[in-house]
Amino acid sequence: MSNYHIKHLEEYYQVYRKSVRNPDLFWEEVAEEHFLWRKKWDKVLSWDFKKPEIKWFEGAKLNITENCIDRHLTTRANKTAILFEPNNPNEPALHITYKELHERVCKFANVLKSKGIGKGDRVCIYLPMIPELAVSVLACARIGAIHSVVFAGFSATALSTRINDCDAKMVITSDGSYRGDKSIDLKCIVDDALKSCPGVHSVLVVNRTSSEIQMKDGRDFWLQPLLDKADAHCEIEIMDAEDPLFILYTSGSTGMPKGMMHTTAGYMVYTAYTFKNVFQYKENDVYWCTADIGWITGHSYIVYGPLANGATSVMFEGVPSYPDFGRFWEIVEKHKVNQFYTAPTAIRALAKQGVGFVEKHDLSSLKVLGTVGEPINEEAWHWYNDNVGKKKSPIVDTWWQTETGGIMITPIPFATPTKPTYATLPFIGIQPALLDEQGNEITGNQVDGRLCIKFPWPSIARTIWGNHQRYKDTYFSAFENMYFTGDGALRDEVGYYRITGRVDDVIIVSGHNLGTAPIEDAVNEHPAVAESAIVGFPHDVKGFALYGYVTLKETGESRDQDNLRKEINQVITEHIGPIAKLDKIQFTSGLPKTRSGKIMRRILRKIACKETDNLGDTSTLLNPEVVQEIMDNAL
Ligand code: WT7
Repeated sequence: MSNYHIKHLEEYYQVYRKSVRNPDLFWEEVAEEHFLWRKKWDKVLSWDFKKPEIKWFEGAKLNITENCIDRHLTTRANKTAILFEPNNPNEPALHITYKELHERVCKFANVLKSKGIGKGDRVCIYLPMIPELAVSVLACARIGAIHSVVFAGFSATALSTRINDCDAKMVITSDGSYRGDKSIDLKCIVDDALKSCPGVHSVLVVNRTSSEIQMKDGRDFWLQPLLDKADAHCEIEIMDAEDPLFILYTSGSTGMPKGMMHTTAGYMVYTAYTFKNVFQYKENDVYWCTADIGWITGHSYIVYGPLANGATSVMFEGVPSYPDFGRFWEIVEKHKVNQFYTAPTAIRALAKQGVGFVEKHDLSSLKVLGTVGEPINEEAWHWYNDNVGKKKSPIVDTWWQTETGGIMITPIPFATPTKPTYATLPFIGIQPALLDEQGNEITGNQVDGRLCIKFPWPSIARTIWGNHQRYKDTYFSAFENMYFTGDGALRDEVGYYRITGRVDDVIIVSGHNLGTAPIEDAVNEHPAVAESAIVGFPHDVKGFALYGYVTLKETGESRDQDNLRKEINQVITEHIGPIAKLDKIQFTSGLPKTRSGKIMRRILRKIACKETDNLGDTSTLLNPEVVQEIMDNAL
C-alpha cells in the first residue's frame, strides 16, 4: 500500500488512522519517498501550541524549486508545466515546459540577485495572472528570498501597507493588466503606493499591455532587457526546512491585515501530498484551478502543489464572463481539462446565465470538480454536479484557510461518497474538534460547535510576520491547546463536517475573506462620516455581501445620500479595493451600543439579514430606541 495515493474509502480510513496514531512516522514516510532533500531532518516534528511554536522536518535542507522543477527535468523536460491561457481568446495559449520553466526561473532569479536581492529579503509581487507571476514566485524561492504576493485588485493604500509591513525591498509589477474588455494600469497604482514606501529600492516591470507609464530613473527597470542578459543557470540556495518561504496577507476581524508566514519543508510536503490525493492527479492530466495566485489557493494549488507533482497546471489571465459566460467551458474543452477547481461564487454567477453556455462545450475530459473559499449552497452544488460534472465527476468541497496552507477537510474523489454542502472528512493527518463556547470539546455525532484543530499539520502558518503575539492571540488563545479556525461547523451522523460559516467579524464575499474593521476604518475616513458598522447579509451570487450602517457628522446630514454612498464606496476602493465595496449603505442617527460602548453587531446583522422576529436581548443597550429607527429604514 502506498501512503501517497489513496484510492478507496477503506484505504482512506487505514491511512488516516496511521497518520493520527503516529504522525511522525507517517509524515516521515511521505517526505522520504517523494521529495528531494539535500539533507534529511533530525526531527520530524516538535510543537507547542502554548508558545506557539511548530517545527516540521527540523534540520533538513532543501530547495522547493529543485523539487518543483529541477528534479522533473530527467523525466518530464518537455512536459507542459504551466499552460497559460490569455485573457483574449484569440491570443494563442502558451505551453511552458518544465525545461522552459527552469530556464525562465533561473534567469529571473539571476535578475533578482543582480538587483541585490538575496536570502531572507522580502519581495513584493503585484502582478496579473501572467506566467511572470508564477516565475517570479519560484525565482524568489530559488534564491531564498521571501515572496509576498499582493492580489493585483488591491488599491495603492492596501499595497503600501503590505509592502511596509514586511519591509519589502523590491516590487515586481507590470505596466498593466487585462481583465475582460478592461485594462488596468498597475504600474500607476504601484507608483502611488511607493510614495509612502521608502524601503523599496527597485521595481521590475513586465511589459504586458504596452500602456503609457512613467519609469523612475534608478528605481524602475523593464524586466525583459534584464532577462535577455541573464545567465540561464542559477544554483539553488540551500534552505533550512523552517526557513520562511513566503508571506501572504489575510484579513483579520480587527486591525491590519495579517502577514501569514509559511515555511519551506512542511508546506512543500503537505501541498504536494494533498494535491495528489484531493485531485487524484494522474501523469498526463491537465489540471486547472481558476483562483488567482494572489490568494493562498493559487500559491498552493496552481504553483507549488501541482509543480511538486510534475503536473500540468493551467493559469488563466481573464475572467469567467469574457468574451462571454462560456469562457470557462471553452477553456476546459480546448485544453481537455481533467481536474477543475473553482469557487462557489463563480458557480453561482455562471449558473445564473443558464445551462446554454455549458451545453455548447464538450466537457467529457472532466474527472474531478472542486470548490473552495466559502460554503457551497445546495442549489449551486447540484447545478455544478448535474451540468458540469454530468453526475459522473465527484465534487470535492475543500475547506481550508490561508493560515492552514493546504486543504484540511475534503472528500477524496472516488473514495469518499460526497454529500452536498458537506466538506465531509478530515484529510489525512488532520484532527478536527468541535468546541462549545466554554471550551469543552463536543464529542459524538450530530453536533455543532466551533471548529478547532487539535494537532499540528505540516503546512500550518508558523507566525504572523512581525507579530507573534497576535498569532498567539488570534489562533491559540480562544481554546487551550487548540488551533482555532474562526469557523463554525457541524458534524453529521456519519462524522461528515459541514462548515456553517465564520463565527467572528470576518465576512466571506465572493470567496474573499474580508475583515469588517479595516473597511469601517476606511468608511470613517470620509469627512462626513462619524461612525460606521459593517455586517454581512446573504447574497445569491456573492454568498455574502456587505451592509454598512453609517452615522454622519452634522456637516453631512444635508447631503445627497446617493452621492454620499458613492463617495463612501470610492473611499473603500481607494483604501482597500473594489472587492470591499458596500452593497447597501443605511444612514442612521445612531448605532446600537452596549453600556460599555461596544456596537451590538448581532442586532445589526439580524436586521441586515431580515431576521427581525427575534432580535434577542436588547435590554443592555444604551440606546434601544435606535433599533426601531434602524428597522424602520432597513434596506
Ligand atoms: C475561510 C478562509 C482556502 C482558500 C480560500 C479562502 C471559508 C474556505 C470553505 C469551504 C466553507 C470555506 C472559511 C475559512 N472557506 N473554504 N469549502 N466551505 N467555507 O482562504 O481567504 O483564508 O478564507 O474561507 O470561512 O475560514 P481564506
